[in-house]
Amino acid sequence: MMTVDDETLQTLIETARRASEAAYCPYSRFPVGAAVLGEDGAIVGGCNVENASYGLTVCAERNAIFAAVAKGLTTIRVVVVFTPTETPTAPCGACRQVIHEFGPGAEIISVCDGPDRLRARLAELLPVAFGPRALDPVDEPKRTLS
Ligand code: THU
Repeated sequence: MMTVDDETLQTLIETARRASEAAYCPYSRFPVGAAVLGEDGAIVGGCNVENASYGLTVCAERNAIFAAVAKGLTTIRVVVVFTPTETPTAPCGACRQVIHEFGPGAEIISVCDGPDRLRARLAELLPVAFGPRALDPVDEPKRTLS
């Protein structure tokens, strides 16, 4: 099943590439940009943001997903990852888990400055995943503040 048409994919790639230019990565010097396509066609980008306390670093994919959720995204159709490298970069394990939360059927497309691309379904990258079903979550967040 096709997840994305060529024109939308180009927009996703351009969004991820631009996002990578904002990456804050003084420690690794490895900029990453990501773009998420929601079920409604919305596109949201994100970049990796590192920290002097290294473990607090957040990857581009997770920053894009969290920004998208804040804009109302509920389902991820596609995640594009861009790195200014010769070969494409697959998302890390933590990001695969976060993608699973909102896009168990998502397609992940990694692109770079070279001609190679990685294209895979999340289920191929994270088989037998742990997810929301195990915890029987409520659909809507409880809002107890008044
Ligand atoms: N990074 C990402 O942003 N996404 C990935 O999928 C892999 C790694 C970032 C985290 C860190 O800032 C740098 O790349 C090197 O690990």
